[in-house]
Amino acid sequence: MAKLTWHGHSCFTLDADDGSAVMIDPWLDENPTADIGMDAVERLDFILCSHGHSDHFADAIGLASRTGATMVGTYELVSFAGTRGIENIHAMNIGGGHHFRFGYVKMTPATHSGTIHGDETGRFTTIAGGFWLHLKPPTGQTGGKRLYHAGDTALISDMALLKGKVDIALLPIGDNFTMGPEDAVRAIEMIAPTVVIPMHFNTFDVIQQDPDDFARRVGDRAEVVILTPGKSYEF
Ligand code: NI
Ligand code: MN
Repeated sequence: MAKLTWHGHSCFTLDADDGSAVMIDPWLDENPTADIGMDAVERLDFILCSHGHSDHFADAIGLASRTGATMVGTYELVSFAGTRGIENIHAMNIGGGHHFRFGYVKMTPATHSGTIHGDETGRFTTIAGGFWLHLKPPTGQTGGKRLYHAGDTALISDMALLKGKVDIALLPIGDNFTMGPEDAVRAIEMIAPTVVIPMHFNTFDVIQQDPDDFARRVGDRAEVVILTPGKSYEF
């Protein structure tokens, strides 16, 4: 059984069936809603970073450095981490996928801006993306769950390309910096996932949303699982 734990904002830990611990968009110490600080993370094998904004990347280098986890992201983003002493990096780009031991990871398009937190040179400026994961099934089973972490993005028609290919969608609903609830419902119509977990809301005043109201708007289009920081969804 795999487990997805929300740490607030867009930060999740995925405990995959093969035993890998995978963190997506690590932001803990400065995250006002996080359930844990960086120091509480004991083991990580992979860190997936959708883009370089501080609220998705601020703890990536510290955690990669301490745990030895492999950092996965766009070429420019992980190259920047390389200049900060991170040796285990895996560079990808939008539309490309790669088989890791826990499953296949493909970077998806996102419409959003991009700088890299900590880069004073501007050399590593990059675009933002998301991740589509096809996880390896537990031993003896076939299939494998498909996860989509949209990163920070507007509603984009490219999401329709994921239709029927997503079991669990992690979608921003905060509005202001990303799509809001209304557009997230349209995203669900395009993607048709089984389960939706809202993210990127209630971290700051400007992205306050009522997740129960969002779930009502989604209606029977998908099952909305509302997590609170520290809570997990098992699948
Ligand atoms: Ni961002
Ligand atoms: Mn963000």
